[in-house]
Amino acid sequence: MQDGDVCHDGRVIDPDIRSARTLPASFYRDPAVFEQVRERVFARSWQLVLDAEQAGQPGSLLPFSFLGDCVDEPLLLARDESGTLRALSNVCTHRGNLLCTKAETCAAHLRCRYHGRRFALDGRFLSMPEFEGVRDFPSRADDLPRVQLGQLGPLVFAALEPAVSFEEWIAPVRKQMAFLPLEKLVPDASGSRTYQVAASWALYCDNYLEGFHVPYVHAALAKTIDYGTYRTELFGWSSLQVAEAAAAADAFEGSSLAACYFFLFPNTMLNFYPWGLSINVVVPLAVDRTRIVYRALVLDPAKRGRGAGGDLDRVEHEDEEIVEQVQRGVRSRLYDRGRYSPAREAGVHHFHRLLTRLAG
Ligand code: FES
Ligand SMILES: [Fe+2]
Repeated sequence: MQDGDVCHDGRVIDPDIRSARTLPASFYRDPAVFEQVRERVFARSWQLVLDAEQAGQPGSLLPFSFLGDCVDEPLLLARDESGTLRALSNVCTHRGNLLCTKAETCAAHLRCRYHGRRFALDGRFLSMPEFEGVRDFPSRADDLPRVQLGQLGPLVFAALEPAVSFEEWIAPVRKQMAFLPLEKLVPDASGSRTYQVAASWALYCDNYLEGFHVPYVHAALAKTIDYGTYRTELFGWSSLQVAEAAAAADAFEGSSLAACYFFLFPNTMLNFYPWGLSINVVVPLAVDRTRIVYRALVLDPAKRGRGAGGDLDRVEHEDEEIVEQVQRGVRSRLYDRGRYSPAREAGVHHFHRLLTRLAG
């Protein structure tokens, strides 16, 4: 057997991009592989907690689903009186009712609406009616399980049993984007939207991970960047694509870059533009159905609508159209796998290697 990361069907992704073949087409169409990826990749990933700014004040509670409609683990953000933010299981340790069903801003504790069990905002069991005489009660098992949290500026991420620590996962973003005051990013509700794509989540990511298609698929975007300067950098769990702006006025201040596109494995895209940050979270719904969740955080509103990050809706539709077309292609009986361009597809190759390493 060849060295490399073994795919679901026993074939490999060669670590040398010059010899490597792409993911087998069955990866993008086999429902059994999709289920495997959900458990082995997504349940072990870091995920953005959408709209976490709603839990900004002490006493806030914000229920959320960890990668809703895919992993779908009910969790909640709780900020205690001293301002400490935690992510807890949102499932009552008595008989499994969901504890918190809507955001609150001045909670002193959590109380289950089924039989009245109470918990502190740090998840500790506080009290339970009608439980006199119950042996070994309460115990640690009656506290709410806590899950890991990580923060990047105003962004909050959670993980159940992550394959990588938050700091290792996020380190390249912290380092490469140190020139921006990330703590000053302000969420902008007008940039919140969702798109549905009739294609595999992984095809959507493959497409994101190369600028190769920009001149062919995105005519307007291509005019805003200098394609000759487009490059990809690889990190352990992420990659960064950058390109210089065609016009100096559309670059970051003090730099010639038009955009910094970070892909954080397996499904988080942080797109930094001179105006701020556009986030795309890729949510796998079925083997050939994907939701893309957009969020925007602004640094400099005056630069909105300009340059590479100017018309994101148009670029999104162009990407969706091509990715849906590829989904039809990978169903072909006559297509199996392709090859990578070493100059242009290092990010796709890196993604496929991580994916096969975790999903098997
Ligand atoms: S399920 Fe919560 S108190 Fe019974
Ligand atoms: Fe694209």
